[in-house]
Amino acid sequence: MLGGKNILLGITGGIAAYKTTFLVRLLIKAGANVKVVLTESASSFVSPLTLATLSKKPVLTSFVKEEDNSTDWNNHVELGLWADIMLIAPATANTLSKMGNGTCDNLLLAVYLSAKCPVFFAPAMDLDMYKHPSTKASFEKLRSFGNIMIPATSGELASGLHGEGRMAEPEDIVKFVQDYLSKGLPLSGKQVMITAGPTYEAIDPVRFIGNHSSGKMGYELAKASADLGAKVVLISGPSSLSIKHEAVTLVKVTSGEEMFRAAHDQFKNSDIVICAAAVADYRPKEVADQKIKKKEDQFSIQLVKNKDILSSLGAIKEKQYLVGFALETENEIENAKGKLKRKNLDAIVLNSMNDSGAGFGGDTNKITFIDKNLRIKPFDLKTKDAVALDILNEIIERINA
Ligand code: PMT
Repeated sequence: MLGGKNILLGITGGIAAYKTTFLVRLLIKAGANVKVVLTESASSFVSPLTLATLSKKPVLTSFVKEEDNSTDWNNHVELGLWADIMLIAPATANTLSKMGNGTCDNLLLAVYLSAKCPVFFAPAMDLDMYKHPSTKASFEKLRSFGNIMIPATSGELASGLHGEGRMAEPEDIVKFVQDYLSKGLPLSGKQVMITAGPTYEAIDPVRFIGNHSSGKMGYELAKASADLGAKVVLISGPSSLSIKHEAVTLVKVTSGEEMFRAAHDQFKNSDIVICAAAVADYRPKEVADQKIKKKEDQFSIQLVKNKDILSSLGAIKEKQYLVGFALETENEIENAKGKLKRKNLDAIVLNSMNDSGAGFGGDTNKITFIDKNLRIKPFDLKTKDAVALDILNEIIERINA
């Protein structure tokens, strides 16, 4: 798959740079032509001589050629055009931020800005840096440019801490790139519909019944689906989040009734549907035209049941792989299995309010994936972007089986 491909490997300054010697060997062994561009700080972690020997080509570190008194320069535009694939591994928080902002203060960044080929980046950093909102914003920005993230894994980090931020292993990076070349991305050609966020059920012009859903889980699912090649329609209840990805269409709704209509509009064209929204089960029977005045000591509102969007989709599904969520507080597995059956789902994602760090609002979630054959797979507590990837990998495995 990589035979004859020109791969430009950009290495930035992190301890994971030492693994790029193995990465270069694997790429060369797979038949690729590899040119290495090192940032200055990367050369403190891995020797240019080692990389030049393994890649059988001079390693490039600066705009000007390294030979003594050279007036010749390393042409970033030519390098960018030479590459069939640009792979930045490890990609540090610093370089990712510069890539996102168009900073161009070293050869690697100039080549990145000149490259017209697919760009992959494999982040590597300490877990708190990996979780930092500014790093997340860099990931998001680069994905919105169409760059492809090879997610970091969890494990022991150079700091001695344990968590997310380890660069994917060289073998996994090569496999990721090979998979991309062989079949495009795993969700290429697929249409994915996702519901996200809360719904607001109006009481009067200024008040509503709502819940604590931020939309994060659904938005991460939308981003991850798009990164994996799908065209995505994200139907979102009121949320402060935004999404900028050329493959994602955002449909904004407010109430459960609006979400119901939007979901049914999109359902026929969808291959995969994931309902992560926290839809209000009830809405006020009457919505007051004017703001309700404070009068009596006690006040009650009559509620009527909202339509269950997921159940209604389960009742009409044909080719769609339909996934629901279950947010539980007791008898979690049994309740989730009940919803899976009653709503005619292909799978359900259980998250429990009893697990700290799971459910509403935060950046993390802890899920159990249950499919229609009642295969149950629990996952560790992870950031919601990693959780989204786990969910999609489970779905992809099943639709390809
Ligand atoms: O948005 P975040 O802050 O990131 O939080 C994420 C989340 C906790 C909201 C998410 O992970 C989650 O669990 N979403 C489903 C919440 C929920 O309403 O669960 P439920 O068990 O009440 O509903 C079961 C399923 O039916 C869900 O897929 C829900 O979208 C769907 N449903 C429920 C009611 C209704 N009227 N229509 C529906 O489609």
